[in-house]
Amino acid sequence: MCGIIAVTGSGASVEILTTGLRRLEYRGYDSAGIVLHTRDDGFLRFRAAGGTKSLVALESEAGAFHGEVIAGIGHTRWATHGGPTLFNAHPHFDCGENIAIVHNGIVENFRELKEELLAGGHVFSSETDTEVIAHLIEVQLPFSPSLVDAVASVAKRMRGAMSFVVVGASEPGVIVGFKRMAPMVVGTDGSSWFLASDIPAILDRAGTFFQIEDENLVVLTPKGARMLTLDMVDVPMESFGVDWTLESAERSGFDDFMSKEIFEQPAALRDTLAGRMTRDGLLLLDEQPSDLDLWARVDKVFIVACGTSFHAGMVAKYAIEHWTKIPVELDISSEFRYRDPVVDERTLVVAVSQSGETLDTLAALHEARNLGAQTLAVCNVVGSSMARLADAVLYTRAGPEVGVAATKTHTSQIGALMMLALQLARVKGQLYPQEVRDLYDQLLAVPAKVTEVLGLWDQMRDLAVRYGGCSRFYFIGRHVGYPVALEGALKLKEISYLPAEGYPAGELKHGAIAMLDADAVVFAIATRTRLYEKVMSNVEEVRARNSAVVVIGNPGDESVVSTGETFISVPRLHPLFAPMVDVIPLQMFAYHVARGLGNDADRPRNLAKTVTVE
Ligand code: M6R
Repeated sequence: MCGIIAVTGSGASVEILTTGLRRLEYRGYDSAGIVLHTRDDGFLRFRAAGGTKSLVALESEAGAFHGEVIAGIGHTRWATHGGPTLFNAHPHFDCGENIAIVHNGIVENFRELKEELLAGGHVFSSETDTEVIAHLIEVQLPFSPSLVDAVASVAKRMRGAMSFVVVGASEPGVIVGFKRMAPMVVGTDGSSWFLASDIPAILDRAGTFFQIEDENLVVLTPKGARMLTLDMVDVPMESFGVDWTLESAERSGFDDFMSKEIFEQPAALRDTLAGRMTRDGLLLLDEQPSDLDLWARVDKVFIVACGTSFHAGMVAKYAIEHWTKIPVELDISSEFRYRDPVVDERTLVVAVSQSGETLDTLAALHEARNLGAQTLAVCNVVGSSMARLADAVLYTRAGPEVGVAATKTHTSQIGALMMLALQLARVKGQLYPQEVRDLYDQLLAVPAKVTEVLGLWDQMRDLAVRYGGCSRFYFIGRHVGYPVALEGALKLKEISYLPAEGYPAGELKHGAIAMLDADAVVFAIATRTRLYEKVMSNVEEVRARNSAVVVIGNPGDESVVSTGETFISVPRLHPLFAPMVDVIPLQMFAYHVARGLGNDADRPRNLAKTVTVE
């Protein structure tokens, strides 16, 4: 997830670009950069990399330019392909520096395109997938009537969700954008035309906005905007106005980041999964271990993580053991290093962490390396401490998560860990390449199912109104429903501060059932995973204690609830993939309860987003 801005017309300036980037920083701040198309000096590029300091450096460097700007493009980066370095900072050029591009999203087939370009003599100056687009346009432009025709030909070759914006030295004042399942909007004040990833970037400049439909191009000049299909057919543009304040616009109109991030889950998961597996069923890691054959000799997997990341790790244990037959141990990071974990060079230790900085998990990773294990980091922040320390890295590509309560990174972690499980099964010879591909294809269908579940938003709000006043909440599940139950309870505790516990449903009768009475609410994760019938038997035990029952189940099973109980219907998936949808109603429930209580869902009391103390 990155932020893009572009401007042409009388208002084009460094200040417009950098102010817009400041408002897009929530989309990432690994680096910032702009290209100005100037009257006297052609293209001028300014870039800076250094986390939150990037934009400050860019403002001071580019702010010293006082010449005339015809048009400009800008970018704030959340690193996915290539580390958060200066040479990976956008905008990127082609070989001749006549094409400049900023890009948000992923070019899934960039490896094969890059090989083709390298064979054709192109020289790359970054590790990004973005740069291939600039070079392909360079190849196409001499055979095209104009820049937009060249961009159209190149866009047809791209796979993956993305939006990008291009300027060409040969067409001053022209900006060409392309959108496919990644946000981009047009705005104007009548004398300047803008493109941006999000409305806040241009909200104080533009009064009129236009949506760009997916698979379409947009061409901006100082005189106006056109939308075109990739076959160069004009598409009517419909304008709209917005009445958001700047503050609410940063959250795209959502009340807070947590709700926004809940709704970003389909895109986060899609970006995490897309283009990650070869036709032979081999996983494309972001950082490969020095010797992948070592993974074939792995005889134990150890997963270390904290909090929500630990729950994702729990789901992975079921999948890895099922597909690979390798034993998996799971440890809370802060426990791992203070016992004597049995780990050697045939153990793969997987550190799961959104931030890649959580001190306990980082320390566990150090310990694993000291014990001679092979290590893998699964994290969301490119270049984080864990990513730098581990032998191999698999990034979730969920984009920055601002809300303290993890949502989109959790479902993305599960997606990433499912791919890891398939990879291990492949290298251990437990699954044929075609079986891995088939399962991967099923995995790719999950984001669309997540979109369906988001339709439960209002129903979960009603449920929060109904039960928000109850004193205790229990979440029960079995098999992969158990980590879902733990995560449902953690979300509720974190932001509502209400007592909530997650339990393996079969364990209830060994103690916790004593707590059940008419004032307790029990959520049962009863989708059609392996132990569905057994979970429903456990629900009977709950009913006998007069507690309120909410069943998370699959379509067709609605009749399992009795009068007065609630059935929340979520799409049925492969049992091991089910947690990625089953957990979402629980995130929504926690969110609505917290809001109902007047709590700040983004900044719950006593918590920090990243815990870098022991
Ligand atoms: O950055 P990490 O994934 O390592 O963080 C681990 C936990 O601190 C984190 O998951 C925490 O539990 C969240 N607040 C959960 O919403």
